[in-house]
Amino acid sequence: MTQMTTTPPVLQAEGLTRRFGGLTAVNDVTLALQLHEIHAVIGTNGAGKSTLINMLSGELPPSAGRLHLQGQDVTGWAQPKLARHGIGRSYQRNNIFLPLTVRENCRLAAQSRAQRAWRLWEPAQGCRTSHALADEALERAGLAAHAGRLASELAHGQKRQLEVAMCLATQPVALLLDEPLAGMGAEESARMLDLLRGLRDGHAILVVEHDMEAVFAVADRITVMVNGTVIASGSPAEIRANQEVQLAYLGEEEETHA
Ligand SMILES: Nc1ncnc2c1ncn2[C@@H]1O[C@H](COP(=O)(O)OP(=O)(O)OP(=O)(O)O)[C@@H](O)[C@H]1O
Ligand SMILES: [Mg+2]
Repeated sequence: MTQMTTTPPVLQAEGLTRRFGGLTAVNDVTLALQLHEIHAVIGTNGAGKSTLINMLSGELPPSAGRLHLQGQDVTGWAQPKLARHGIGRSYQRNNIFLPLTVRENCRLAAQSRAQRAWRLWEPAQGCRTSHALADEALERAGLAAHAGRLASELAHGQKRQLEVAMCLATQPVALLLDEPLAGMGAEESARMLDLLRGLRDGHAILVVEHDMEAVFAVADRITVMVNGTVIASGSPAEIRANQEVQLAYLGEEEETHA
């Protein structure tokens, strides 16, 4: 017997808006992240993608709009609190501690969720949980063999994998990844895409990405932003066929590269 049940989104943004003085960087964005789905957010430089992630992760308070996490209104919650409640993120620029080992980077990320934020200097030897979480995350991100290396020794693609591992070490239910493929070669990109596909299981994933081939290869849903506004959201097939997207987004792409 089929049951008409709709799974509530893991993360739901309604009318999220962020103004910087006179500039509206994100304008009235409504978007839902579902469990087991990869939701790509695309748009040209300055479209507001990182600002949107910053609001979804609590790093920036919205100027207007609401945010719900698993049905709970979490609007205005700061990043450490949202992280403890299951929102993990990675950054557009590397955010790893290069002089530390790969495992140590992950362990600190795990601990940052367990403890109060920024108390990273507290002694944590003997904290089994964060060690176990770090090792699990490294395994899942395909970096277990590199756990003992210094982060500085990793290749670029491995550093981006480490960022995802650090995110996983915080046991997120929603993963917000800002350009995880940036600067990668074809082989590294393919590895990251495989990793993302595998992470669908148990997570709701938002990925910001400029590489359209990668986006269409991996996304279950795509949201297109232009100048802070969502102009379309749908399946890859719907987005590919959308005329407004072709005109506004692909047109701007050409301008960008002109
Ligand atoms: N802290 C800030 N203060 C003022 N303006 C900002 C701030 N952060 C972002 N902006 C502006 O908001 C707009 C959106 O920026 P954002 O970084 O979100 O774009 P993006 O889509 O991530 O771009 P990119 O693809 O280049 O990463 C830009 O015009 C940017 O200059
Ligand atoms: Mg950005």
